[in-house]
Amino acid sequence: MKLSIIGTGYVGFTTGVCFAELGHNVICVDNNLEKLDKFNKGESPIFEPGIEEMLKRNLENGRLSFISEIPPAVKESEIIFICVNTPPKEDGHVDLKYIERAAREIALSINDEYKLIVDKSTVPVKTAEKVRETILRYCASGAKFDVVSNPEFLREGTAIKDVLEPDRIIIGADNEHAKEMMIELYKPLTDKINVPVKFVNVRSAELIKHGANTFLAAKISFANLMAYVCEEAKADALEVLDAIGLDVRIGKQFLNPGIGFGGSCFPKDISAFENTLNVLGIDMSLIKAIQQINELAWQRFLKKVEKELWVLDGKVIGVLGLAFKPNTDDIRNSPALKIIEELKANGAKVKAYDPQAVEKTKKAIPDVQYCLDAYEVAQGSEALLICTEWDEFKALDLERIKNSMVTPIIFDGRNIFEPSRMREIGFKYFGVGR
Ligand SMILES: NC(=O)c1ccc[n+]([C@@H]2O[C@H](COP(=O)([O-])OP(=O)(O)OC[C@H]3O[C@@H](n4cnc5c(N)ncnc54)[C@H](O)[C@@H]3O)[C@@H](O)[C@H]2O)c1
Repeated sequence: MKLSIIGTGYVGFTTGVCFAELGHNVICVDNNLEKLDKFNKGESPIFEPGIEEMLKRNLENGRLSFISEIPPAVKESEIIFICVNTPPKEDGHVDLKYIERAAREIALSINDEYKLIVDKSTVPVKTAEKVRETILRYCASGAKFDVVSNPEFLREGTAIKDVLEPDRIIIGADNEHAKEMMIELYKPLTDKINVPVKFVNVRSAELIKHGANTFLAAKISFANLMAYVCEEAKADALEVLDAIGLDVRIGKQFLNPGIGFGGSCFPKDISAFENTLNVLGIDMSLIKAIQQINELAWQRFLKKVEKELWVLDGKVIGVLGLAFKPNTDDIRNSPALKIIEELKANGAKVKAYDPQAVEKTKKAIPDVQYCLDAYEVAQGSEALLICTEWDEFKALDLERIKNSMVTPIIFDGRNIFEPSRMREIGFKYFGVGR
């Protein structure tokens, strides 16, 4: 099929590359010329395992191209994906201006040749109806199109696997023709693997994404709540949560205490869902509790550091991990950055390292000493703070780390080490909830 993807960030880029890999002809559109230049050279502007090889392969076989203008892409395509960003506004509402702009530009290029518009960006319920209204307002009379919702559940770091082997495909479509086109679109994938495809109405599809992210965020906040209980009661949160997660109704995933969730999705999506509840006149206290516990997560962690070191002013503190989670260079809402800002505000001298996110963090917080590896961070530090659970940190030579620090104190915000082993090596060790 002939597809176009409008907005080639983490979602649009991965979607475009994967659909080309599945045999479709894909035109990706982005108005960021710097990114386009990289794409066209076969370079990925984001760190995502495996994506650059797939990009090069599909550029070479001619199934994938990148351009800056929406009209030629729309003209060439049967299906047009909207994958633009939907950032939060100051008041927590979703800023839908990029969606509206994309819809307007699509409208100007469609006529009586049928087009299927697919919203893949995460949006509040009823957005597809607004997209439809917008297209109708700006398109030529007699234009034929439908708008469907096809929310994306990929996770940065495993994005390609998540797109090519998803847990489920959700299609919100209100008519048969649109459904059939979506079935044909996903056929190369559903022929290969056994994946549930759920057809729902458009509003349900929009709510599924916000509901799923809110539930996952609630699991993380519950794990953090248990961690605080265990710290006060002198129990071990990892033992407690592991046993709780053995119940198949609960499951172990996302029951990990730490310094809280970040990224571009959870914080924004649960605020958006909170707004939806507000508009619908539904009590929002569950959402508020998730958010409060999440803020407390990194603040409590920092309090432990302050309690142990007493005065931070002038002390050299090492931070390992800047990305909001491992296997990505994404630092949006990363708790590591909030912690660094607080350390600096208290006069600490911060050294930091991340396997992929240093360049992006440098732009956000320039006055930090960025290092080439964890060993350089440890050199001369009075404490090390582990903020992202990269595998690289789990495999560190801990003797070497200990010997290069001024005082061997580790605050492990992601519980990557066993407390007993750390104490045996000679560290003063603080995990979360244990
Ligand atoms: N990042 C994730 O892990 C993830 C996962 C699932 C869903 N989502 C959702 O997918 C959407 C996109 O997220 P993202 O992380 O890929 O965003 P992003 O900020 O990385 O990328 C968005 C891209 O859209 C481009 N763009 C915006 N308006 C445009 C226009 N009019 N024409 C051409 N290009 C335009 C921007 O230049 C940018 O490259 C959001 O709604 C997000 O909530 C994200």
